[in-house]
Amino acid sequence: MHYKNSQIYFDSISAQELAKEYGTPLYVYEAGRIRENFQRLDRTFKKHWPRFQIYYAVKSNSNPAIVKLLMQEGAFCDCASLNEILLAKKLGAKGKAILFSGNYLNDDDLKAGIESGAFINLDDVSLLDRLLKFGKPDVLSFRINPDFGKSNVHESDVMAGKQAKFGIPWERAKEAYAKAKEAGIKKFGVHMMTGSCVTEPEYFEAITKKLLDCVGPMAHDLHIKFEFIDIGGGFGIPYLPDEKPLDIEKTAEKVCDVFRKKTKEFGLGDVQLVVEPGRYLVGDAGFIIGRVHAIKESYKKFVGTDVGMSTLARPVLYGAYHGISVDKTRSFDKLRMTGFDKLRMTGHGDIKTGHGEPVEPEKVTITGQACENADAWAKDRELPKLEIGDLIVVENAGAYGFCMSYPYNGRLRAAEVLVDGKTDKLIRRRETFEDWLLGVENLDTAR
Ligand code: LLP
Repeated sequence: MHYKNSQIYFDSISAQELAKEYGTPLYVYEAGRIRENFQRLDRTFKKHWPRFQIYYAVKSNSNPAIVKLLMQEGAFCDCASLNEILLAKKLGAKGKAILFSGNYLNDDDLKAGIESGAFINLDDVSLLDRLLKFGKPDVLSFRINPDFGKSNVHESDVMAGKQAKFGIPWERAKEAYAKAKEAGIKKFGVHMMTGSCVTEPEYFEAITKKLLDCVGPMAHDLHIKFEFIDIGGGFGIPYLPDEKPLDIEKTAEKVCDVFRKKTKEFGLGDVQLVVEPGRYLVGDAGFIIGRVHAIKESYKKFVGTDVGMSTLARPVLYGAYHGISVDKTRSFDKLRMTGFDKLRMTGHGDIKTGHGEPVEPEKVTITGQACENADAWAKDRELPKLEIGDLIVVENAGAYGFCMSYPYNGRLRAAEVLVDGKTDKLIRRRETFEDWLLGVENLDTAR
């Protein structure tokens, strides 16, 4: 996303054009940015450890066009449920190109997992006997809880440690692998996912070291060979204006250095290093275009838009911050007369004149249209003065955005558009009233 003459563009298509063609609220993804994110991560890690594979965390954005785009770049799929497996398969993934990492699975999930031929990653040893009722996986992996985790977003994004519902405590991992070996399984992997949105390279080094210190002695004592070691996703992106991006070069170097040292120390061989990012690949490539529909001067000033808590759940769920940029082109002619064309807007409310002098912004609270006060989701933001009809663009909405949206208050799900250079294409149409009622049964007998 960038500004050209105070207008917001995604590649070469303006927000105004997209809003006019597809309506608002509208999720927009930049294909080029997704490819860049994938290639940067892939290239950087492979430089340090060539046997490296990215499994894309489908849960972070499961629009089939996005999953397909990443598969075309070389991603395999990290799937959390049977439906995600079905999606990956529909797009052509099979066998080891799918890693099934569910948690608290029922027998139907386990059966479907085995039948799908995906790599199975069990969240607990208690699932092993139940899985074996349906067949023996070629390669089996367990999710390990290394007893610490981290997130820059919220404590609910911390996925390891004593409060986490995930994985097997690392001290008990050996029992799980011993049991699997006894059951006749010959090939193994190991997995962890300790937290989402971390931007400190040292953290990834620390979890990798902890996992290998758990895996190494186990491989030796049980005489088992690991086919892959999956250190999870969690690579963060900056959401706040002054937050620094993750230094991926430093991260890859530190992770691979400790990986090399430890695999050598424990004689683990040229094992495959796996990561399963979601946010890092798609987070900053996605935006929501919304329109200002109503403005209220109450005890404070509220700007009502069609982007609400049901369009983007993250601010309300996690107190997450999303940058907001403003496109006033619709009222631009009027503003031009008042000298507004001398303003340059750079997002996050950072407004400067054409001469680079700061302009006094206005403090407003951006709200959606849901009947909940939580829906006033961007509080006291400094933004250029907004008027009815203006567009807002919510940044960093590519991960955990649309896939976590819901049709609350009858405000139905947005459309999704993929912009690729000079072209844009609708990759999911806007939800309709008929879609909303899809699956409703026995309406005529309801009293
Ligand atoms: N692998 C597993 C097993 C996961 O559970 C997740 C995310 C990932 C990989 C990808 O993590 P990432 O690279 O995106 O951090 N809804 C929250 C994030 C929840 C993450 C769930 N699991 C949010 O919007 O912040």
